[in-house]
Amino acid sequence: MSDLEVRLRDIVGPAHVLTDSDLKAPYETDWTRRFAGVARCVVRPAGTDEVAAVVRACAEEGVPITVQGGNTGLVGGGVPAGGDVLLSLSRLTALGDVDPIEAQVTVGAGVTLERLQQHARAHGLDFGVDLAARSAATVGGLVATNAGGIRVLRYGSMREQVAGIEAVLADGSVVRRLVGLAKDNTGYDLTQLLAGSEGTLAVLTTVRVRLVPLQPARAVALVAVDSVGSALELLAAARAGLPSLSAAEFFLADGMALVRAHGGLPAPFGEDHFGYVVLECSGRTDPSDDLLDVLGESPAVADATIASDVTGVARLWAYRETHTEAVSAAGVPVKLDVSVPLRELAGLVADLSSTVAAAAPAARLIIFGHLGEGNLHVNVLGAEERAEEVTEAVLRLVASRRGSISSEHGVGRAKAHWLPLSRSEPEVTAMRRIKHALDPAGTLNPGVLI
Ligand code: MLT
Ligand code: ZN
Repeated sequence: MSDLEVRLRDIVGPAHVLTDSDLKAPYETDWTRRFAGVARCVVRPAGTDEVAAVVRACAEEGVPITVQGGNTGLVGGGVPAGGDVLLSLSRLTALGDVDPIEAQVTVGAGVTLERLQQHARAHGLDFGVDLAARSAATVGGLVATNAGGIRVLRYGSMREQVAGIEAVLADGSVVRRLVGLAKDNTGYDLTQLLAGSEGTLAVLTTVRVRLVPLQPARAVALVAVDSVGSALELLAAARAGLPSLSAAEFFLADGMALVRAHGGLPAPFGEDHFGYVVLECSGRTDPSDDLLDVLGESPAVADATIASDVTGVARLWAYRETHTEAVSAAGVPVKLDVSVPLRELAGLVADLSSTVAAAAPAARLIIFGHLGEGNLHVNVLGAEERAEEVTEAVLRLVASRRGSISSEHGVGRAKAHWLPLSRSEPEVTAMRRIKHALDPAGTLNPGVLI
């Protein structure tokens, strides 16, 4: 055993330094099975002081660290690069008391999104971010990647929920701002700098989050549409007419066929359609009538079905939410996560098939995502051997339509090469300078983002 492993064992206890291949394996491959690397060891500290000591030890020995939360990331940002220490934050599960006056709570980076939601709801509040990986995704990872999900249209992304952070810098020092002041213009906002920094600037250990009102009554509509234009027309009507709108999601006929085959789901309508929009409204009282009014007045609706009971809501959400697992069951996808201005969405969808086919003729394309933000998840199956070509072609297409090559999943290792497609040279230079200022030796998440 090396000096570093001995030091790490002293810090976290021998049971939490994993060097055995079988024990390390679950941390070394990502959820999609596309990204993998061999860690020198996996270290699982129990608190901020232990994280700081681990970071200091690795920095002194010159050994890089890859930081991992729930390992639900989709861009290879949380799996080892090879030979690094894999720092798992899964034991940082402290759950503070909900403060109903501030509507805030302080939680450890390793708390899952689902646990945070349950905790808030038990106190008559809720958390503003929700996504399908809620049972495993952790708060630290969600902040580090500025995760989005299905409620962005109502509450914004993860960074909007963050009122403060505690984090360990690359030299092992700790920055802590957990008071959660609603107003605090005192210099550079380190909290917001670290949100979305993908573990490249610091290791987030604790987060103070804002909570939102609990809206227990929900109504969900699955709406068939015959074009992207109709989906956008419906979105505009929903935004104008539904103050209770909490989600607007989108998928196409190929995705519907895939999730139906995977989950044995029944056909929701008598015939197939070009695409489908999921609209969700939530409030203190049943918002079904408002939703029905908007659907009834919109010429964009080709067909629709609505539910407001718990089972019915889950049944309709399943058509959208099981896309990721259905895609994964069909193979190892090239997953791209992009967004464009809404006026470019129809053109992008129209061009994607031919663009992907030119790069990988045998590939199968599944498109779904978050309509409200023009955020498409472009999943390409059967293209593992052509991953570079597909990525290059799709991201260039997105950039030509003024879009972002990384909408909500982060850049990770998967898209670092293509960063200049969405950021100018002066912007990338500024990012490099920030990275160098906070982590001059490049200890944290090397190869991720920049
Ligand atoms: C989703 O919106 O379902 C997630 O971002 C996961 C995915 O893209 O597969
Ligand atoms: Zn998404």
